Amino acid sequence: MNKHVAIMGATGAVGTEFLKILEQRKFPLASLKLLASGRSAGKKLVFAGEELVVEELTDKSFAGIDLVLASAGGSISKKFAPAAVAAGCVVVDNTSAFRMVPDVPLVVPEVNPEDIARHKGIIANPNCSTIIMNVPVWPLHKANPVKRLVISTYQAVSGAGAWGLWELEEQMRAYVAGQPIQKKKFPHQIVNNLFSHNSAVGEHGYNEEEIKMVNETRKIFHCPEIRVTATCIRVPVMRAHTEAINIEFAQPMSEAQAREVLSRAAGVTIVDDRAGNTFPMPLDASDQDDVLVGRIRQDISREDGCGIDLLVSGDQIRKGAALNAVQIAERL
Ligand code: A2P
Repeated sequence: MNKHVAIMGATGAVGTEFLKILEQRKFPLASLKLLASGRSAGKKLVFAGEELVVEELTDKSFAGIDLVLASAGGSISKKFAPAAVAAGCVVVDNTSAFRMVPDVPLVVPEVNPEDIARHKGIIANPNCSTIIMNVPVWPLHKANPVKRLVISTYQAVSGAGAWGLWELEEQMRAYVAGQPIQKKKFPHQIVNNLFSHNSAVGEHGYNEEEIKMVNETRKIFHCPEIRVTATCIRVPVMRAHTEAINIEFAQPMSEAQAREVLSRAAGVTIVDDRAGNTFPMPLDASDQDDVLVGRIRQDISREDGCGIDLLVSGDQIRKGAALNAVQIAERL
């Protein structure tokens, strides 16, 4: 049955990608409502060649709606998702608001699609770096349990929202023109630079992004004992996240075995051209549905053969956010 769908945060980086993906995947729509802040009310966005007018999000926005795709920030989801559920909607929430609530499913469709059916109105879409890492690690974990993951990320500015894209673009223009670089929202200059992820750092020294990768992976994999450590870095790239992943398995895992598993994995495209020195890059991952996986190699620092290294790159706005949420909605 076709669905009446509302996008919360329709004018944002992920919101506008929802429009593209719903159109590209021919999502069965009965109607589409675009919601954003009062600042955007009256603004027009094009969907399937038709202009739709953005409305201000209020408690009353959800009458007659079946499905809400939410990406307007955690505080907005906390405030409005309960009203949407009370109005009978299912909310697929792209923010961190409900991810770690025990009875809210946290879903990567390639990993734990069976959790979708347990929902009580809200299904959480995981953190973007977590999704992009989980897609290739899960099939390896099924073949040979993963004991420990060590991850370094190279994260695009789109993860900060539409303003991240504008800020990098503005700084690139100023940089090329030899003008002073203006910092607006990022804490440091991003053009010709990189910095530790701009989320709050806790007493243990880990930032929030890193802790999300730890806790969310355990929840999605239903594997509380998996050990994860991450170092998350913001880099001057527009829209795809890249991650170096070191995996420790319970049993030895050869490069050939890892390659064989990954070649059959859903949502994975292998890009591993040693002769041409061409591996996953954010430019190639942008606008792609699959996570690109390469640099598949044995970890030579171990004598037990239990280590594999990977380099992966995935579109943060797409598989890291909007596509994953629409894939969840398709399975509802
Ligand atoms: P608006 O464009 O009207 O500010 P991003 O993550 O790319 O920064 O996008 C955030 C999205 O959340 C935008 O669509 C933004 O709308 C929306 N948003 C921000 N604050 C509110 C609010 N108070 N009520 C509804 N939508 C909001």
